[in-house]
Amino acid sequence: MKGIIFNLLEDFIVENLGDEALEEILAGTGLRTTEPFVGPGSYPDEDLMALVAQVVERMGIPTDEALRAFGRFCIPPLVRRFPGFVTPHSHPKDFLLTVDAFHSTEINKLFEGAQCPRFHYESPAPDRLIMRYESERRLCALVEGLLEGVATHFDVPIRHSQTACMLHGDPACVFDLTFLPPPGTP
Ligand code: HEM
Repeated sequence: MKGIIFNLLEDFIVENLGDEALEEILAGTGLRTTEPFVGPGSYPDEDLMALVAQVVERMGIPTDEALRAFGRFCIPPLVRRFPGFVTPHSHPKDFLLTVDAFHSTEINKLFEGAQCPRFHYESPAPDRLIMRYESERRLCALVEGLLEGVATHFDVPIRHSQTACMLHGDPACVFDLTFLPPPGTP
């Protein structure tokens, strides 16, 4: 996984557990990486999951909840850093429909060696979107958190259910999304 994701996880740890906890975790987790994580670098996925395991232990929450919280946390800094992917859109459905394309083109160009997830879409109704997530990393809980962060960013609630999961042997994780009217809509 690219260093930018590790840096976001470090920020997430500082926000939730403090600077000292981050120092202790980095020094005491037996990571394969010994140098500081830098954005464009590539690091073992095992190290990311070892850091997540520390979050799980120290925050006393299950792994999927930690990944969801981390996903929610990631959206504001990603939007600040890469506004061009987000600002052309005023509705989360329009933005989400571009996520596969910008990961497999721009992100792959900006971050050499990225192994980006793939998304496939179906749009059964104007207020619905079915997103099929495929990645060997099988981080569907992270996707769920990112979707929650996207809903908050656009101020459009998204009701979602997961109808298939790679962790349960399905070939992909499938999210069935319904976009609700923004709060305050008559
Ligand atoms: C401005 C918005 C975004 C930017 C700049 C961005 C960028 C990135 C980058 C650089 C990676 C690391 C890839 C690697 O190391 O191989 C990544 C991973 C990932 N992205 Fe995004 N992303 C954004 C939004 C989203 C959204 C909205 C979703 C889904 C709803 C998403 C789903 C994922 C997932 C699941 C991964 C983890 C890798 C995997 O599952 O294999 N991203 N993204």
